[in-house]
Amino acid sequence: MNKQPPMIPLVKVAMPPRDVLMPALESVLYGGVIAEGEHVYSFEAAFSELFGLPGTLATSSGTGALHIAFELAGAGVGTEIITTSMTAEPTNTTILQTGAVPVFADVNPRTGNIDPASVESLLTERTKAICAVHYAGYPVELGELRQVADRHGVVLIEDCAHALGARFKGRSVGAFGDSAIFSFQAIKHMTTIDGGALTLKNQTQVPEAKRLRWFGLTKGVPRTEVDIVRPGYKYNMHNVAGLLGQLQLRGIDTLLNRHVSNGRFYDERFASVPGLAPAAIPDGAEPTYWLYTLLAEDSDDVERRLASIGVMASKLHRPNHYHSVFAPYRRPMPGLDEFYRKLVHIPCGWWVSDEDRERIVDALAKG
Ligand SMILES: Cc1ncc(COP(=O)(O)O)c(C=O)c1O
Repeated sequence: MNKQPPMIPLVKVAMPPRDVLMPALESVLYGGVIAEGEHVYSFEAAFSELFGLPGTLATSSGTGALHIAFELAGAGVGTEIITTSMTAEPTNTTILQTGAVPVFADVNPRTGNIDPASVESLLTERTKAICAVHYAGYPVELGELRQVADRHGVVLIEDCAHALGARFKGRSVGAFGDSAIFSFQAIKHMTTIDGGALTLKNQTQVPEAKRLRWFGLTKGVPRTEVDIVRPGYKYNMHNVAGLLGQLQLRGIDTLLNRHVSNGRFYDERFASVPGLAPAAIPDGAEPTYWLYTLLAEDSDDVERRLASIGVMASKLHRPNHYHSVFAPYRRPMPGLDEFYRKLVHIPCGWWVSDEDRERIVDALAKG
């Protein structure tokens, strides 16, 4: 029987080379300190340095980091967070977790990202924060959004879970928000198996964020001497993930560069294919294309054509307001409806070779 080659996937786990990873893992696993410790703090420092983002706190997940960010912004019962439905669910389930109301702003139909004008129209005196997701790794129009947040005195939180290394006007995403979060879950650009990071612009918030990360306690102070005044969570990163994170950062440029090379190749080639359009990229934005976003008049046809040559393609996410739990917060979002109808993600990561990407373009450019 002919064995079919495996499909080219949309997402893939990236691990450091075995000969580097295994001895390092062994040393941490048998080193006596596997909980939060020096490997986590070294990872935080390396992350801050590489992306120019001060105040990095490593967490057990991006979701945990988001929860802390929302709490620091004052989210709770009786408050509102302006957010996007075009994201993975944790962006918005976390808002519900705080007791706040998620207010869904519309998105730009050409990018899938939150539309600053829609955000501005939804601000009320109950708004505590705006949450902007750099969907699929394409930066939001951060200049305008920062201005909206400043005009109204609300916090801007960047959800950079898809956008590690992406830049806007020469600076890393995460540098524009009052806080930002990253995810190192299994299939992101970079994984610590599960893990995340919170970055904070205002360094005076760091001690409170650390307490929220760890039950409300302060690390390093004997438990017999601390008093919890605000309950925190168990969102800290452990040393095994911290060490893996450090090793991953050493190779991250190579991986990101390949995502970018493939993304730019598609941007150029799909620009002239009738019925297809690359997602728009705002002036000054440099995406890192966690997923490649193609907008197609017939997205099912794109999926079928790629399946026939052994390549996965899909919409991947479900706008969050489609879920029953968000039904009370549904509102008309014509931009999102248009974006989602046309959306199809195609493989673009480090595992897509020059030959693969040519085959993908050829299969879709055929009349
Ligand atoms: C946009 C977005 N935000 C937040 C998260 C949460 O990250 P994590 O899975 O690390 O908790 C994810 C990941 O699934 C995500 O895609």
